[in-house]
Amino acid sequence: VGGRLQDVGPEQLAQHCRRDDAWLAIRGNVYNVTPYMNFHPGGVEELERGIGTDATKLFSQVHAWVNYDSILKKCLVGRYRPRSGEGS
Ligand code: HEM
Repeated sequence: VGGRLQDVGPEQLAQHCRRDDAWLAIRGNVYNVTPYMNFHPGGVEELERGIGTDATKLFSQVHAWVNYDSILKKCLVGRYRPRSGEGS
């Protein structure tokens, strides 16, 4: 909430796969989790497993009950578009 939201495809998502530039997708939303890295209760290395990718499955396997959308409200980048370039 605040900035403009963008459509993000797999290629663009994959470019943000470093702990100092970390995006991931969960259930259709793309988040910039860089600021959350050091606050993740499961640690940096665990969170890193999902960055640059659609981490929906991984996230759900570990803690499907966690309210990520509330935690990452300010980190929302936009919508995940698995087939980038299509739709809007
Ligand atoms: C805890 C993994 C993403 C929020 C944990 C734990 C692991 C883990 C292993 C530790 C559980 C324990 O010590 O009992 C992962 C992996 C992720 C991921 C592999 C890859 C996508 C996220 C995201 C958020 C998040 C995106 C929130 C925005 C939390 C919270 C806990 C936690 C709140 C504490 C849960 C509790 O104690 O009930 N995570 N996590 N995690 N993670 Fe993640």
